[in-house]
Order: sequence, then structure tokens, then C-alpha cells
Amino acid sequence: MLIFYFTATGNSLSVAKRIGGELLSIPQIIDRPELDFKDDAIGLVFPIYGYGPPKMVKRFLEKATWAAEYAFAIGTYGNKPGAAMENMQNGTRRCQRPFDYAESLLMVDNYLPYYDTKDQIAKLGEKRTEENLVRIVEEVKARRPRWAVATQSQRADTMFVQSRRRPFLDGNKAKSYLVDETCDRCGVCAKVCPAHNIEVAHDGISFLERCEFCLACVHLCPQRALRLRREKGRARFMNPEVTLDEIIEANNRTNNQTNLAPT
Ligand SMILES: Cc1cc2nc3c(=O)[nH]c(=O)nc-3n(C[C@H](O)[C@H](O)[C@H](O)COP(=O)(O)O)c2cc1C
Ligand code: SF4
Ligand code: SF4
Repeated sequence: MLIFYFTATGNSLSVAKRIGGELLSIPQIIDRPELDFKDDAIGLVFPIYGYGPPKMVKRFLEKATWAAEYAFAIGTYGNKPGAAMENMQNGTRRCQRPFDYAESLLMVDNYLPYYDTKDQIAKLGEKRTEENLVRIVEEVKARRPRWAVATQSQRADTMFVQSRRRPFLDGNKAKSYLVDETCDRCGVCAKVCPAHNIEVAHDGISFLERCEFCLACVHLCPQRALRLRREKGRARFMNPEVTLDEIIEANNRTNNQTNLAPT
């Protein structure tokens, strides 16, 4: 089994790890000239951003092809999934083998402009994440089918959100970040960035124009020196089932700078 994943704060990576198989990080493979895969089962695990997949996951789906007896997609989210999984299944019907199974999993919400992470972590018990994850792992291992069906109001919300300009998802976000004097230029933010969007120099750090707005840099800065101009609180999150080294291994592109065009 092959699983493609994208993660910023580790939720999606923790799900991919629990399902098992060979895990391939999308930031590490997206620039390969060929993305053709074959396996008995192929999966995709990603965080839901604005009721859809992150931009890099969309680009991956446009480029990749695969052959598998069973294909599944799991979107992790923090409050509302919208019609993300229904659209994912309908979208892949046209371009490659459709997903046999699509499901979303409610986890801690890491979207700092809307939510105080401290409150989101406190609500984890109500979200029944572990119980649902156990069910998803069993269903995928048993190769069950599952067709995701959104409600009319989820479809309407998704169309509304995705038809508007999304200031935090689109455009240049370099001005969204503030770096305070506690930054010791350790370089962790650059290494957890899946878009290679951060440069660290002796006089400070700078943001380029390829940001996915995944917030890995802000959540995972060891000094908590990074924050957003618009954020609901100073608490930060990393999924306890993963390590910082695993996120760095998944996202670090500082030694691999080929074809890193602005997105
Ligand atoms: C830019 C951005 C947009 C998000 N949009 C949504 C959303 O539309 N609905 C939702 O429930 N959660 C949303 N979230 C929360 C994440 O989907 C959720 O925390 C996810 O599990 C994070 O996965 P990761 O830890 O693998 O990065 C958003 C997070 C970010 C950073
Ligand atoms: S991770 Fe934090 S302390 Fe380290 S270089 Fe980045 S902003 Fe500075
Ligand atoms: S700069 Fe920060 S928010 Fe933007 S893609 Fe990199 S890690 Fe994610």
C-alpha cells in the first residue's frame, strides 16, 4: 500500500502512519518529472483548507496517475469539512481512477486566524477523533467502499467560500507574519515549510511568494517567535503522535530547490 500525504502540524501524518504502508510526502515528490504509481492500494491523506485540498495537493492530483485495486482519500479537518470529500471523489472520477473510499476526520483545528488553539486542544475529547480513526483504519484495511455525500448546505458553503477571493489562501502572504526578537535563526521554520518559502540569513528570516499558508512555521517555531498579524491566540499545536523530525523529513526542501516556481 502507498499513501501520499501532506501535513503541517502532524494530524494528517499521524493518520497516514496509523493506516501504514509506504508513506510518500507530497512536497518531496511533487517536482518529479513523472508521477505514475502502481500498487494494490493507494491512499491520499491531507488537511482540508477552505473546504478543499491544499493548493499543492491539487497540483499533485493534476499531475499524478495511478493504478490500484483500491484507492482512498482521507481529509483531516478541525471544525467543518464542507463538501471537500464529495468534490474530491467527483473530481478524480474525471482525471484518474476515482477513490473507492472517501472520509473526513475531525481533529484539532490549527487555523490560527479563526480559532484559539488552546480551545481547540481542550475540545479534542468531544471530537471523538480516536474512535473515528480506529473505524477508518479498519474500513480501509478491509478495502470497504464509501461514497462521501455532502449536505446541500455544505455544498452551498463550499461554493460560496471557494468562489470568493480567499485572502489567506491566495496571494502573497509575506506580510501576514511577524517575527519577534526571540528568533535565534535556528532554521526550523525553513525546514518544516513544504513550499521552501522561508530563507534564514544571519540578520533574520524572510518569506518568499510560494506560501501554502499551512502554518507549520508558526506552530512549530521552537521559540514561538513567529506569529500572524491576525491570530486568535498564542497557543501552538503539534500532533503528539508525530515528532518534529518526522515533519522536517516530510517537508524540508532546503536541499532540493529544483523547479520551485511560485504557485
Ligand atoms: C489554511 C487553513 C485552512 C483551513 N481550513 C479548514 C476548513 O475549511 N475546515 C476545517 O474544518 N478546518 C480547516 N483547517 C484546519 C485543518 O484542516 C486541520 O487542523 C488539519 O487537521 C491540519 O492537518 P495537519 O496537522 O496535517 O496539517 C484549516 C487549516 C489551515 C491552515
Ligand atoms: S523557527 Fe523560529 S526561532 Fe527558528 S529561525 Fe524560524 S522564526 Fe526564528
Ligand atoms: S511559509 Fe509557513 S505557512 Fe507558508 S508554506 Fe511555509 S511553513 Fe507553510
